[in-house]
Amino acid sequence: MPIQPFRFSDLPAYLAIRNKDAAEAHVPLWTEAEAAEYLHQPNLHPERDLFLATEDGEPAGFLLVVHESLLHHAIHEGAVAPAWRRRGIGTSLMLHAIAHSRGLLARKVLGSGSDSDVARRTLFASLGLLPAHRQVHMRLEPDRFREGRFDRSYTVRLADAPDVRYITRLQNRAFAGGWNYCPNTPGELHYRMRMHGSEYSDTVLLSMGKALVAYCWTRPRRTAHGHAGVIWMIGVDPDWHGKGLGQAILAESVHRLRDGGAAVIDLTVNEENDSALNLYRQAGFVPTGHTVWYELAL
Ligand SMILES: CC(C)(COP(=O)(O)OP(=O)(O)OC[C@H]1O[C@@H](n2cnc3c(N)ncnc32)[C@H](O)[C@@H]1OP(=O)(O)O)[C@@H](O)C(=O)NCCC(=O)NCCS
Repeated sequence: MPIQPFRFSDLPAYLAIRNKDAAEAHVPLWTEAEAAEYLHQPNLHPERDLFLATEDGEPAGFLLVVHESLLHHAIHEGAVAPAWRRRGIGTSLMLHAIAHSRGLLARKVLGSGSDSDVARRTLFASLGLLPAHRQVHMRLEPDRFREGRFDRSYTVRLADAPDVRYITRLQNRAFAGGWNYCPNTPGELHYRMRMHGSEYSDTVLLSMGKALVAYCWTRPRRTAHGHAGVIWMIGVDPDWHGKGLGQAILAESVHRLRDGGAAVIDLTVNEENDSALNLYRQAGFVPTGHTVWYELAL
């Protein structure tokens, strides 16, 4: 089975495999424009780090290595189309990508899957990738939101392009030391904050005087059942923790998503992040599932 490096002319093949896998996992399908937008992210190098497997001339599997050079990590994102499973394609792609990751001088390979994804877990285990970390997916029905009690002496507004440098600084400060957090550049955020139908104005900012102290980056999401909202990133400047600003930014963002028509609001949080888990539980979010992260030290 040939494994070849991706070229942008292969976009339909990549999209076909990705969407077949997404349909099975009940994850939203992408259009070709969305797939191109994803692969053009400034931190990705698909023509170097994405590989396609073909069988009988048909696209069968892909594997993208997301190289986080600052952390020396290589995150493997891939799928084998359902019709081509149990033929060794996943193993071949992973072996190829592990060798490629060594070439990038990565020290660790990471992969992820839902906790019920036995196929992924078994494949990873056969190559030495073992469970290392878990994330919790949580959901809120906005009518069940329990708003905390907090001091309203902040000002609130929606983000705009000139804010990106300050948001990047705040995000990198708030998430520093968090599991697998790779600091972002303003260029990366400028690109990502406008992906998947999002705009800068989907990010809510809280200031105290002139200082930007908290932000919540949300994303609209269409589902088979209507409109949903995603809380993508939420952070409070470490100098301002424990003063109710987490509750405040959450409340401001939940109200905006609800007023925008979101029937449910989803987020993902690292399982050991007690502060965030407590904040979300207290607000009425309930767990809906887990993602398991697997690691192999190279
Ligand atoms: C999570 C975070 C946003 C909370 O912000 P904050 O302004 O300190 O939170 P608040 O003062 O509003 O606290 C609200 C609730 O959060 C929980 N909480 C906050 N800090 C906590 C801590 N150190 N330990 C346990 N629970 C904590 C509590 O339930 C608290 O309510 P309580 O004071 O009535 O017990 C902040 O810690 C942060 O920015 N962390 C880094 C980024 C991050 O992990 N974001 C979430 C990713 S999903």
